[in-house]
Amino acid sequence: MITSVSDTTRVVYKRVVKPILFKQQPDAVHRHMLRTASVCQRSVLVRTAMRTAWAYRDDTHLSQTLHGVTFTNPIGLSAGFDKNFELPPTMKAIGFGLMEGGSITYRQCSGNPRPWFHRLPKSKSLVVHVGLANDGAAPILERILLYPTRTFDSFPLNISVAKTNSKLASTDEEAVKDYVGSLELIKAKGVGELVTLNISCPNTYGGEPFTTPERLEMLLAAVDEVQLVQPVFIKMPINLAWPDFTALLRVAATHNVAGVTIGNLQKQRNDLQDRLSEKIQGGLSGKPTYALSNELITRTYKSFGDRFTIIGVGGVFSAEDAYTKIKLGASLVELITGLIFEGPQLVGQINQGLVRLLQADGYANISEAIGAAHRPVARRSA
Ligand SMILES: Cc1cc2nc3c(=O)[nH]c(=O)nc-3n(C[C@H](O)[C@H](O)[C@H](O)COP(=O)(O)O)c2cc1C
Repeated sequence: MITSVSDTTRVVYKRVVKPILFKQQPDAVHRHMLRTASVCQRSVLVRTAMRTAWAYRDDTHLSQTLHGVTFTNPIGLSAGFDKNFELPPTMKAIGFGLMEGGSITYRQCSGNPRPWFHRLPKSKSLVVHVGLANDGAAPILERILLYPTRTFDSFPLNISVAKTNSKLASTDEEAVKDYVGSLELIKAKGVGELVTLNISCPNTYGGEPFTTPERLEMLLAAVDEVQLVQPVFIKMPINLAWPDFTALLRVAATHNVAGVTIGNLQKQRNDLQDRLSEKIQGGLSGKPTYALSNELITRTYKSFGDRFTIIGVGGVFSAEDAYTKIKLGASLVELITGLIFEGPQLVGQINQGLVRLLQADGYANISEAIGAAHRPVARRSA
């Protein structure tokens, strides 16, 4: 049950914790947070305290089953915050309904030179230039298997897979083999309820090779052959013009692809309210992604209907932001930057707010609101 502790946390986070954290270099804060949380989450007491204080559960309104996977609520952690799957117990305890970890890659990768992050507080954004640092697929999947199986009761894992950021995976054939290597490991270990192919990391060696129809066709043909039991999603870039974006969707529609995640980081730096030197490389998260993500969710839902399940990502800081993506066509919503800017109580507050918004619109369950913005408003009887 959510309590006033959640409201207190919001105020304490905004007025005390965030000002302290935001004075420190963001890479150091991220490292410190990972270390602290991975120690604290070992205590049942701490996990229970987090759940009691912050998580919000209302299965009647928020639970839904998609592709055979049940989600107790539609709010998930997006890829990139927990690249090595070190924090599933914490993410479950604070109330996420799913967690996308990674992106993992077949080979271990130490990423780009630091710093990886820059904060843009006025723009509610982060500049991200990590370059897919991660421990590598095999040890990460082993780590997931070490958690007690109950960790993943009512908490599906979405495993994000990308191409190793290295010269060793620079030709198309090598890159496809690299993705398939990770997927074969996932299949062999039987880990994860969903799998996402990240084809849109802007910060890597060789760029984003699978964002043309011909090359995406080549990748997806190889992925089909792996015959994963999990539903497969594709993490889409958001800076493609609609004809190019829809060309990728048309290719995906002919393959074993259950859905699309819309989308990744923003490459355009227009309209920022903070000054940002051109020397600082990286894509933008948070609010600068919001409008573009919403527009692409709308166009995808209108053009492809229920062919693709949509995971809406980008700039979600409130229940209203999440509800907007759901009404535009997203079945699930994932976030990172909102969590960093607003604090750990945000997840429960979004879920609580969603129930309020669903009730106000007369929906009995979240599934009724998906895509509702594109349907004529039902007339209520007087
Ligand atoms: C610190 C950080 C690291 C990220 N790393 C990845 C990644 O490894 N794979 C991926 O698909 N997206 C990655 N992203 C993009 C996010 O998953 C998400 O698409 C984007 O940040 C927009 O969501 P947000 O506004 O809620 O942060 C990363 C984002 C951030 C902020």
